[in-house]
Amino acid sequence: MRSITAPVAAPIAPGRFPLLGHLPQLAVKRVDFLQSVRVQGGIIRIFLGNRPVFVLNSPEAVHDVLVTQSRKFEKGLLFDIARPFIGNGIITSERDFHRRQRRALQPAFRRDSIAACIGTMTDIAEEQVSAWRPGEVIAMDLVMRRMMTAMLVATLFSTERPDGAAAVAELGEQVAEHLTTVMRGVFVGTVLPAPIASSPALGHRKYLSAAAALRELADNAVRQARQDPTDRGDLLSIMFAGTPGNPQGMTDVEARDELLSLLMAGAETTSTTLSWALYELGRRPEITDQIRAECDALPAGVLPSAATLPFTDRFLQEVLRLHQPNWLLMRRVLEPVRVCSVELPQGAELIYSAVTMHRDPAYFPDPLRFDPDRWLSRTERDLPPGAYVPFALGNRKCIGDHFAMAEMLVVLRSIVSRWRPQPVEGRRVRPVVQALIRPNALPMRVSPWPTC
Ligand code: HEM
Repeated sequence: MRSITAPVAAPIAPGRFPLLGHLPQLAVKRVDFLQSVRVQGGIIRIFLGNRPVFVLNSPEAVHDVLVTQSRKFEKGLLFDIARPFIGNGIITSERDFHRRQRRALQPAFRRDSIAACIGTMTDIAEEQVSAWRPGEVIAMDLVMRRMMTAMLVATLFSTERPDGAAAVAELGEQVAEHLTTVMRGVFVGTVLPAPIASSPALGHRKYLSAAAALRELADNAVRQARQDPTDRGDLLSIMFAGTPGNPQGMTDVEARDELLSLLMAGAETTSTTLSWALYELGRRPEITDQIRAECDALPAGVLPSAATLPFTDRFLQEVLRLHQPNWLLMRRVLEPVRVCSVELPQGAELIYSAVTMHRDPAYFPDPLRFDPDRWLSRTERDLPPGAYVPFALGNRKCIGDHFAMAEMLVVLRSIVSRWRPQPVEGRRVRPVVQALIRPNALPMRVSPWPTC
């Protein structure tokens, strides 16, 4: 039963400017600003211009909004801004349509479907990693972006491309470039007032044309797949197949929008997380040794998974904690609702940040220390629900969580079984906070393992 206590008002974060509210802090200090306001309370209010926005700081509030009372929320401003760029796919759509589409896509993310993609994922990783030369400096952030987009394109657009791996790599490269631009456009549109965000000086036209180019690539993939009625078992075949809720299957526009949603949600999140993983390996060679030993001991034919590579999985869990790429996620209140004693009016926008949640010392002692073994003494299940949310929770939880973990295990295994990635002296890596938090640049020297 929900407790009946008097409603309390959410405190307003200090530093509000007339007219602009807290926009300057959010636009300039970004995640540091959200981190700094946590001490004000479990739910606090900031203002974007005159618009009040509630920031969820406690695990209870996050869990209540994402799970317990999720039906009273929709996705909000960030996704309104994204919709004109990427259409009405699973990340932007709402209610019955979202439920129908999510149910239709689910088969592609079942364990057996993911297992069927491991071969393609491994081929793509191996092809790139085996081309590196001893002592070569690799721009890991760019390589990861290309690799993970190619993986998504190869596994989503088609598991078997008749035009070969080179075509997939080229398509992946084009998609990666446009995606990065579109994501920047969505970010700018969210943190800046509309007249400023849509000004040509801030590159608005560039964002729109990248979105148009991306749409065209996805349209072509849908058109090509439609011409070939064989069931290839890939995502497009799944989308065209009927479901009880939609016997005709998706229309071309619906399928196109779902491809765009999945690319938007699944490429840069994974590549950014892997970049941070490599960054940590560069700082901690003993962890690389441990991962290599674990990967080398994996018998041929056994798929990489949390069960077969427990240390590597724990390492990734810690990367997803400390280097969570999603620092700004939003919801909007559909009807007046009370969350942790705070009344939230209809239409109010909410922010939650997995980054700040994961740095709460109450749940993660010495939170800025990178320590995979913290997960030995305290597993996810020991934490209050809402405290560790790398893939969110509830009906809008990441559909690709297991897919992403599989991809990342495959890539790490390919890299560390051949190479020791090391930082390049004098090149400082720092976080850049835009739509995601990514490294400014990640040059790493790859050295082969000594032969015994
Ligand atoms: C490390 C990689 C990833 C991270 C950290 C991540 C994280 C997240 C988070 C936090 C959300 C919830 C967003 C919100 O609350 O508004 C989400 C949603 C989503 N993710 Fe992921 N994701 C990752 C990889 C992937 C991959 C590989 C795919 C697909 C291939 C994917 C597809 C999606 C989709 C479609 C949604 C929206 C689900 C819905 O609204 O029903 N993600 N992801």
